[in-house]
Amino acid sequence: MTAAPHNSRADLAELLAFYATAGVDEALEEQPVNRFAEVRPPERVPAAAALPAGENAAPQRSTSVSRAEMDERPNTAPAVRTSPAMSTVPDEAQAALARQLARSAASLDELRQHMAAFDGCNLKFTAKNLVFADGNPTAEVMLVGEAPGRDEDIEGLPFVGRSGRLLDRMLAAIGLDRTSVYIANVIPWRPPGNRTPTPHETEICRPFIERQIELVNPKVLVNLGGPSAKTLLHTSEGILRLRGNWRVHTTPSGVAIPAMPTLHPAYLLRTPAHKKLAWRDFLEVKAKLRALG
Ligand code: URA
Repeated sequence: MTAAPHNSRADLAELLAFYATAGVDEALEEQPVNRFAEVRPPERVPAAAALPAGENAAPQRSTSVSRAEMDERPNTAPAVRTSPAMSTVPDEAQAALARQLARSAASLDELRQHMAAFDGCNLKFTAKNLVFADGNPTAEVMLVGEAPGRDEDIEGLPFVGRSGRLLDRMLAAIGLDRTSVYIANVIPWRPPGNRTPTPHETEICRPFIERQIELVNPKVLVNLGGPSAKTLLHTSEGILRLRGNWRVHTTPSGVAIPAMPTLHPAYLLRTPAHKKLAWRDFLEVKAKLRALG
């Protein structure tokens, strides 16, 4: 008996479902691309062109409409088409530009605009949306995760997937919710296929999250997971050693904010036995807020 060809609509739908379950949910290229061979000189994003609105804003990439359209039409060209200029590996000039833009943002709205106009991080070109923040910008507690996942990328909001639902329950356990906390990520664009952001991508994005923390000026910072703790607390210690102990995050202008590193909700979903550790950390946060008044 010969096997039936596996190219019916049902077969293809099943194959796509298999890919999605396995985490393969990005349409990239047929052929491998050596991004490192594409490094271009820094002048590709003229600094002046990316300055704040009113100071000659950078040309905005069309985002939501075309991306949304592409999402609706899987048979069009790959959603992640990058022009040669867009696929450049981030370099020091881009990190410097990120620092300059972050510093010059006088408000969260301005910071969001600068980040949306910034073309120096290649993650932007495979992401659907900038995931800036959720919650209350005047909150006493700010939580920072690593980077958006698939659900966050689609909605443009941090922690809205499975780990976000667990985070909401953890917050509720200490009497908080998204009206009383502010949530962001170290990296505001989803890495393709949820891969780990590279150190270079993290360095490029670091000025933005540091400025975001500075502008929110929370009483307490909560680092969700190792990458957030390592990036914002300048340590290489593992999260299992870090968690549960108060540290200090120092803002670019020198303000010291108490920071509690804790386990990432995605880790807790995989390792439920450690939920009790996170519970203790959240109780610490609650006690600190009470002590700070
Ligand atoms: N994990 C993160 O670190 N951030 C999100 O927004 C979602 C999942």
